[in-house]
Amino acid sequence: MDRVDEAFDATPRRDFLPAGVRRRASYDGPLRIAAGQTNSQPRTVADMLRLLDVRAGQRVLDVGSGSGWTTALLAHLVGPTGSVLGVEIEPVLVTFGGRNLSSTGRRWATIREAAPGVLGDPGGAPYDRILVSAEPDELPQELVDQLADDGVMVIPVAGTMLRVTNPDAVVTRHGRYRFVPLH
Ligand SMILES: C[S@@+](CC[C@H](N)C(=O)[O-])C[C@H]1O[C@@H](n2cnc3c(N)ncnc32)[C@H](O)[C@@H]1O
Repeated sequence: MDRVDEAFDATPRRDFLPAGVRRRASYDGPLRIAAGQTNSQPRTVADMLRLLDVRAGQRVLDVGSGSGWTTALLAHLVGPTGSVLGVEIEPVLVTFGGRNLSSTGRRWATIREAAPGVLGDPGGAPYDRILVSAEPDELPQELVDQLADDGVMVIPVAGTMLRVTNPDAVVTRHGRYRFVPLH
């Protein structure tokens, strides 16, 4: 059992699902939440978190916080000496995810509505880790610019999971995955 398994155990997926799909929480696939969006496939989330290699005390940005599940998982991984900011573009999910997150009591994590035309959180950068749960066609330079000098970002781009590490924004590829589009 590694730190990611422990985070999953401490953060049950069913607590981040609407009542109508809660009974399917153990299904290893994406589940509809609201606004045409999904709570991601658990195996994919686990793969991404292992690639992200989150440490206690880090500052983490969660782009596309949706149900709040990944934000809460990241909050477990950084612990109370760290911080997590989730940004979400759909207002109804800012409310839904924020409520789910606050019921975990992990007050070092918050969810905020994405500012129009702004990707991520340039004002709060640099971040030690950036997780992106929606898919652009190309690697967004705006997000690369928000990574700390020794930071790591995990992001699906055009069907392939990328791990971007600083210094020098070195990109490695980690298999094929499908995600909702990054708007
Ligand atoms: C796969 S879903 C949610 C996954 C989420 N991490 C979870 O655990 O439920 C991806 C989310 O990204 C959001 N999204 C898309 N483009 C975005 C953007 N530019 N900024 C912030 N969120 C965005 C969508 O609204 C959607 O909720």
